[in-house]
Amino acid sequence: MRVETYVGEGLRDVLADLARLRVTVFREFPYLYDGSAEYEARYLETYLRTPESLAVIVRDGERVVGASTALPLEAETPELRAPFEARGMDVGSVFYLAESVLLPAWRGRGLGVRFFEEREAHARRLGRFDTAAFCAVERPANHPRRPAGYEPLDAFWRRRGYEKRPELATALSWRDLDEDAERPKPMTFWLRALT
Ligand SMILES: CC(C)(COP(=O)(O)OP(=O)(O)OC[C@H]1O[C@@H](n2cnc3c(N)ncnc32)[C@H](O)[C@@H]1OP(=O)(O)O)[C@@H](O)C(=O)NCCC(=O)NCCS
Repeated sequence: MRVETYVGEGLRDVLADLARLRVTVFREFPYLYDGSAEYEARYLETYLRTPESLAVIVRDGERVVGASTALPLEAETPELRAPFEARGMDVGSVFYLAESVLLPAWRGRGLGVRFFEEREAHARRLGRFDTAAFCAVERPANHPRRPAGYEPLDAFWRRRGYEKRPELATALSWRDLDEDAERPKPMTFWLRALT
C-alpha cells in the first residue's frame, strides 16, 4: 500500500476517485448519503480552488482504496464557519478536517490514524493554524438504519486528542437514502489544539 498527498489544484488527478469513495463509503450508517455526481462536483470544486487544501490518498497497487481531505476552514461554506463566527472565534486559525473514507477491507491497519497525522502535519507546516476541527453527524440512537453492533468513532477520535464541542453545532444538507431531496442534518464539531 502507498500513501500519497495531493495539494490544491493537484487534487484534480484524484477527484473522480474521491467522489467514488465518498459515494460508496458514505452510503453506510451514520451518513446514509445517496450521492450524486452533481453534488460531488459542487462539493469537490472547493478543493481545487483552495491552494492549501490536502487529499491523502491510499493506493493498493494502482487502485485508490482510501482518502482523507482537509482545508482551511475559511475556504469552507458559511454553514461550517458559522458556529465559530457566532462565538467570535478566529476562523482563520482553524484547519478543517473534512472526511476520511476507507473501503472496509483496508480498515483496522492504522490508515485512519495516518490520515489524522498527515492532515495535522500539513496544517502545522502551513504555520498559521492553531486548531484542527472536524464535524460529525448526529443520528438518534434508535435510528432504523443503525446496524446492530454499530460502534461510534467517538473513542477513536478522543484517542487522537479531539474533544467534542456541543456548543459548536451546525447543519449540513445532503440527500439521505430515504429522502426525496437534500435536507439539513445536525452536525457537531470536535476540536484539538495543534500547538
Ligand atoms: C474512519 C476510518 C477511516 C478509520 O480507518 P481505520 O484505518 O480502520 O482506522 P485505524 O486502523 O487507523 O484505527 C482504528 C483503531 O485500530 C487500531 N489499529 C488497528 N490496526 C492497526 C495497525 N496495524 N496499526 C496501527 N493501528 C491499528 C488503531 O490504533 C485504532 O485504535 P486506537 O483508536 O485505539 O488508536 C474507517 O473506519 C472508515 O472509512 N469509516 C467509514 C467512514 C467514516 O466514518 N469516516 C469518518 C468520518 S468522515
